[in-house]
Amino acid sequence: MKITTEKLDNIDLEIVLINDNDLKSKNLVDKVLLDKLSFKAEQDELCFLAESSKVYVGYSDDIASSIASSIRFLDGKEFVKNIKLTTNLSDEESIYKITNGAILGFYKFDKYKSKRTNKHIKNLYISSPSQKNFNQTIKKATTIANSTNFTRDIVNMTPDDCYPKVLAKIAGNLAKENNLECNILKQKDIEKENMNALLAVARASRHDPRVIQLSHKPKDAKHRVLVIGKGLTYDSGGLSLKPSDFMTTMKSDKSGACAVLGILKSVSELNLNVEVHGFIGAVENMIGGDSYKPDDVLTAKNGKTIEVKNTDAEGRLVLADVLDFAQQEISEFDYIIDLATLTGACVVGVGNYTTGIMGHNDELKNRMKECAKNSGEFATPLDFNRFLSKTLKNETADICNISNTRYGGALTAGLFLSEFIKDANKDKWLHLDIAGPAFVEHIWGVNPHGASGAGVRMVVEFIENL
Ligand code: BES
Ligand code: ZN
Ligand code: ZN
Repeated sequence: MKITTEKLDNIDLEIVLINDNDLKSKNLVDKVLLDKLSFKAEQDELCFLAESSKVYVGYSDDIASSIASSIRFLDGKEFVKNIKLTTNLSDEESIYKITNGAILGFYKFDKYKSKRTNKHIKNLYISSPSQKNFNQTIKKATTIANSTNFTRDIVNMTPDDCYPKVLAKIAGNLAKENNLECNILKQKDIEKENMNALLAVARASRHDPRVIQLSHKPKDAKHRVLVIGKGLTYDSGGLSLKPSDFMTTMKSDKSGACAVLGILKSVSELNLNVEVHGFIGAVENMIGGDSYKPDDVLTAKNGKTIEVKNTDAEGRLVLADVLDFAQQEISEFDYIIDLATLTGACVVGVGNYTTGIMGHNDELKNRMKECAKNSGEFATPLDFNRFLSKTLKNETADICNISNTRYGGALTAGLFLSEFIKDANKDKWLHLDIAGPAFVEHIWGVNPHGASGAGVRMVVEFIENL
């Protein structure tokens, strides 16, 4: 779908975006009819006037979601190819949200359908009172929305189609297309790096692990950011096997890694003047005769010993080594941000739609919360405390991979990761637990059933604002 503020000929249908205030206006052409149909212009409310080929859509605080709802509604209608979107909003931010909502709402994942759906909508013409062309705004919103869709596509792939080697291939192709530096570590290279915690998780899988590095390195960059992604292409739980109801959707345990790919796609296409290094731990957590076991003691890359008490707390083991590797490879940086579908506890705590923001630096956590909000994502800071840190202590080894309390699981997982952040970098670190929003089994706002691309928009916003 092409989005433009230039007039289109042959309009097939008009979308009219209004709020309850607009609805009160006497100038509203279809006021009588809309009143008769009890249209209230509530958030995402749709009213299709077939005779005049118009769809009214209401909004209160989420323009992008309203546009996504109307685009989804129209996508099934074959005659709708060219759409005029009428709005009395004329500021850059609104045009940005309209564009974002249209592209994110237009997304459909049908790779596994025997009959692919035909996409009918070709052009969306935004008609606003402003005379500006908004080309730059539309271009930026399109780039970020397309990167989010790129992330969604990979997350939605089945574990049989997307295993560590495939994830590395996707990263390699992205590097080629977008002029990124790319370094892939295979089994032997990972062994040489002593990433024993990661290797233990990977051991029972027929697919070897990969550690992937992708770098966007503009000349004279003013800042340097590391983004680290959990890439469990499948999480069966290992020997601490997940109950079957909890195992379904675990193809989405690679969402952090896929978000890292989407972030690198965005920052390179937007040509941002920030050096960004992405690191991914791509691993499959399976069962077998050579599984790692509860009771094992692993020596992580940074030398710390970890007693395994639950093989389903595998993401933190993978990230422990990748975080240390990233800090070894790029020793000087301003920020290190990890994204991971790390805990069910985070979903219990803040719900399906919200990312948990953790770290030791309150200013940084609040900044990320603002970035999430401005970019259309939900995220909230969760605060560590010293009493929770003690719950990871262990008699046998330096630490345990699960805490000794059943409460506060998102925070104790975050505190486990903190053990692998060097002291000098503690204040530069953010941990984003995207277990809730990364994969939701229904449509919500601009998001489809399945992968949402959580983390891409908020982290790109963060990097852009540096
Ligand atoms: N990948 C899961 C976390 C998860 C749960 C992601 C639900 C998305 C939706 C993670 O590896 C896991 O299994 N965590 C355990 C930790 C526990 C054993 C301490 C969990 O959350 O139950
Ligand atoms: Zn797990
Ligand atoms: Zn997991």
